Formats: sequence, structure tokens, C-alpha cells
Amino acid sequence: MPNRVKVKIHKNASAKIEADIIEIELPDGTIVEKEGKAFICRCGKSTKQPFCDGTHKECAFEE
Ligand code: FES
Repeated sequence: MPNRVKVKIHKNASAKIEADIIEIELPDGTIVEKEGKAFICRCGKSTKQPFCDGTHKECAFEE
């Protein structure tokens, strides 16, 4: 059975990814694994890139 990955784009905020194992390759080639869910920054202002740290609430990100 194929794995199913759910991605939800939150209005003016992060993208939530849900899967058993989420493998994220960073620009330097480092692999980060998350189990269950991950919140990816879409505003570009998070200090914990590529993950959301809530900063989008302060920078008036709209999309
Ligand atoms: S989307 Fe949350 S900090 Fe960027």
C-alpha cells in the first residue's frame, strides 16, 4: 500500500506535513527526520528554518 502524506497550508502561516516519517534535506545536505508531523515556515522569518517558530504572527505574513 502506498504511503500517504498530508500537507495542509495554513493561511498566513506555516505548512503542516503529516506522515509516519518526514525526511527533510537542508540546503547543506543535512537530513533531518521528524515523526508524525512537521511545520514548515512559509514566511521566511523563522529563526529555526526550515521549521516554523511562530514568528509569522509578528511579521504580518499574508499568503
Ligand atoms: S511560517 Fe511560521 S515562522 Fe514562518
